[in-house]
Amino acid sequence: MKRINHFETNAILNQFKRSSHQENTSSIYATSSFVFNSAEEAQSVFAEEKEGYMYSRLSNPTNDEFVKKLAVLEGAEDGVAAASGMSAIFISMAAHLRAGDHLLASRNIFGSTHKIITQVLPRWGISHTYIDVDDPKGWKKNLMPNTRMIFIETPSNPGLDIFDLKYLGKFAADNDLYFIVDNSFATPYIQNPIEFGADLIAHSTTKFIDGQGRTIGGAVVGKSSAIAEVKNLSNQIGPTLSPFNSWILSKSLETLPLRMEKHCSNALKLAQFLENHSEVASVRYPFLSSHPGYKIAKKQMRLGGGLVSFEIKGDFKNCKNFINSLQLFSITANLGDARSSVTHPATTTHSSLTTEEQEAVGISQNLIRISVGLEHIEDIIFDVDQALKNSIK
Ligand SMILES: Cc1ncc(COP(=O)(O)O)c(C=O)c1O
Repeated sequence: MKRINHFETNAILNQFKRSSHQENTSSIYATSSFVFNSAEEAQSVFAEEKEGYMYSRLSNPTNDEFVKKLAVLEGAEDGVAAASGMSAIFISMAAHLRAGDHLLASRNIFGSTHKIITQVLPRWGISHTYIDVDDPKGWKKNLMPNTRMIFIETPSNPGLDIFDLKYLGKFAADNDLYFIVDNSFATPYIQNPIEFGADLIAHSTTKFIDGQGRTIGGAVVGKSSAIAEVKNLSNQIGPTLSPFNSWILSKSLETLPLRMEKHCSNALKLAQFLENHSEVASVRYPFLSSHPGYKIAKKQMRLGGGLVSFEIKGDFKNCKNFINSLQLFSITANLGDARSSVTHPATTTHSSLTTEEQEAVGISQNLIRISVGLEHIEDIIFDVDQALKNSIK
């Protein structure tokens, strides 16, 4: 009987074949190209008659180790490592969209993804319709004969809105649409969109997959048939991840399960604390029963994630007081780090959206996003509590 390893084991065991030096930890193949023993061998590797590496824009053993491991953890067949989350998203869309196509996307998406959809894709005649999280019938209503793709982010940044993967997987299959999910916030430890019918999963590995804020990186994993075209596009345009970053990310995957357990248990406790705080107007956390997407989140996520968003009582002045009073937190646009961090989305990560666009996705002037780190929860709560008390000054 073949044993199927658990997530934790797969995160460690899927390692590139050892070199003749028998290193325990995989080495970094920091090389731009690979050599051949003869002109004939070069010819047959280029002709794909013989397996072999040629040039690191196309493929590299360290990049392969990272992306293959990520693919196993997502339940995907294949993948492509990319230089950033944004390049991963762009190549997954661009590989499968053609001039004249229409895209259905969740309105609640990261600011740069919104810019790709509204400013870049229209240059090639690709139109879109945004669907609101509280309008599940909107997908069907806005389906057009030229609709070719669905793109969603769940949980979304920064509102932590939840889209129904099961419903959308079936909708995509019934209507022959490519279904792409940005799974950066959940990570493969918490949610596997492929189980629900996604064709491609895009990751900003800069976030929880790195886990210590050291690299910018991305990856697309999915069905081999859908990945082939992404790989072809990536090979030609070259948004390649550096082998050094791949090595860091591959090592990071080994500790992803442990880190996500802790991020999520800390985040849930902080969300529960905030829900009962007198200076807090509202709290968003997928595993709080007050979250509008709670029932769906419970079905498609194993844990609630490491992010908590909340509205402070008052306005931007109170947000500034809160943020400036925090002692343990980094004020930074990144998330998913071992260090807890705080962001005011309206004036930073999502400042490229107009006020109307921000309002449409629930980014109010008093919204704060916290990425809950791995510090002791009592220290996190103590710091947030004292900063909230200072927010009213
Ligand atoms: C959900 C989501 N997707 C994609 C990105 C872009 O990732 P990167 O900065 O690695 O390009 C971000 C960045 O914050 C994000 O939050």
